[in-house]
Amino acid sequence: MDARELEKIKKLFQPEVIAVVGASKDPKKVGGSIVKNILANGFKGRVYAVNPTAREIMGVPSYPSLKDIPDKIDHVVVSVPADKVLDVIEEAGKLGVPVASIITAGFKETGRADLENKLVETARKYGLRILGPNIFGVVYTPANLNATFGPEKVLPGKIAFLTQSGALGIALMAWTAMEGIGLSSIVSLGNMSDLDMVDLGEFFAEDPNTRVITMYIEGIATGRGKSFIEVYKKITKKKPVIALKAGRSERGTKAIASHTGSLAGSDNVYEAAFKQAGILRANDVQELFDWAKALASLEKVDVKGEGFVILTNGGGIGVMATDASVFSGLPLLDMPEDLKAELRKHMPWFGSAANPVDLTGQAKAENYAGAFQALLKHPSVSGVVVLYCEVAFLDPVELAKSLIETHKQYNGAGKPVVVAMVGGERTREALKLLDANGIPSYPIPERAVKSIATVYRYSQYLSRNQ
Ligand code: COA
Repeated sequence: MDARELEKIKKLFQPEVIAVVGASKDPKKVGGSIVKNILANGFKGRVYAVNPTAREIMGVPSYPSLKDIPDKIDHVVVSVPADKVLDVIEEAGKLGVPVASIITAGFKETGRADLENKLVETARKYGLRILGPNIFGVVYTPANLNATFGPEKVLPGKIAFLTQSGALGIALMAWTAMEGIGLSSIVSLGNMSDLDMVDLGEFFAEDPNTRVITMYIEGIATGRGKSFIEVYKKITKKKPVIALKAGRSERGTKAIASHTGSLAGSDNVYEAAFKQAGILRANDVQELFDWAKALASLEKVDVKGEGFVILTNGGGIGVMATDASVFSGLPLLDMPEDLKAELRKHMPWFGSAANPVDLTGQAKAENYAGAFQALLKHPSVSGVVVLYCEVAFLDPVELAKSLIETHKQYNGAGKPVVVAMVGGERTREALKLLDANGIPSYPIPERAVKSIATVYRYSQYLSRNQ
């Protein structure tokens, strides 16, 4: 994609001026809720509404048509019924608007491919790019932009999420915030009449606010398979990409056909395409964001050596994590003597300085801090899995604070670190705190191990493909 087209996509996410056509004073209507969300998130650019009768909507100046707006529009959000969309696109095109997101449903997905083709034809005539139709909109947190009819708040972060499922996307806006997963963007792909995951991937590959690209896909648009592989082969050498592809089973594939009308094709074809492109394939939503969180915690993924260490206060979870490491291909360090000697300073005589390092159930925050620091500083250690079982005399939040402090002080080398804490309410709070401070954390050891193993796998992919 040339720079001019890329610039148009940029306007989708970072417009200086956005106009909502089909805006309404009624915040329960789609167009009304989009205006409400744009305002609620403190979008810094200028906002206009288009509505046949209103002259102001929620404090936003409103005009009867796009051409009446006394400003140069970068991004038009279209939320008028299907039979009125074409006229809006024609008008936007004439005005030289670079990009439109079309919320409206009732096109190809309902058998109106003719209407959709007409939209694309018209937009092409003017060089206008289209996202949609049949979408819930676009979120881009670095610009405080939430031009969707989904929930008001999205937690800012470094993960971009592209989704072919509207309902799932909307649901995940709130779910990710609750889980402490920070997003740079959420994009609803809809019918992909023009812009699709290939074009958007090119944007996010260059986007300094995005470290990891994630996607839920059901099918790649017809004729785009080759570009998908070629483009993503390049992207994955810069940034990790994780895909969740539904329709693994035969019945699932049939369900896709009736959902988005995509020609889903055999799952083996997708599996091969992902492999060729270097895309990591997640099995479910949880895995998708578990891995993304771990990858997004590092400014640069560059794992040194092949020696990960598990640090724990519980023998049982240490063994569980060891098994998970073996099954997920995470190499564990054979502990050098100098490191063992240093670690022994931070545990009682009945602890273990082997790997897993067992500080025992009586470990205090300062024991964790000392051992964690020794691991971060030692050149043979590639990365650390910190485990904790909730015990009465070590408050998880206190431990989290101490881990955050040590991590800040001693992890200049950017070693991957994950934490798993098993326990109750206080543990939940501690996990949130760790996540908010850039240390990916999980409620069970296996999820932590699989996530750091993905970081290792991706780092290996990078070194094989330099
Ligand atoms: N220009 C500007 N505004 C226009 C207009 C035009 N040409 N034609 C109508 N409007 C106004 C209407 O007057 C109305 O404002 P009002 O409340 O002040 O009267 C507003 O636009 C919306 O039009 P309305 O006819 O009330 O439609 P609606 O809000 O019920 O539905 C859509 C519009 C787009 C939401 C609906 O057609 C649709 O597609 N819904 C599905 C969306 C969806 O699910 N997308 C996929 C999600 S994954």
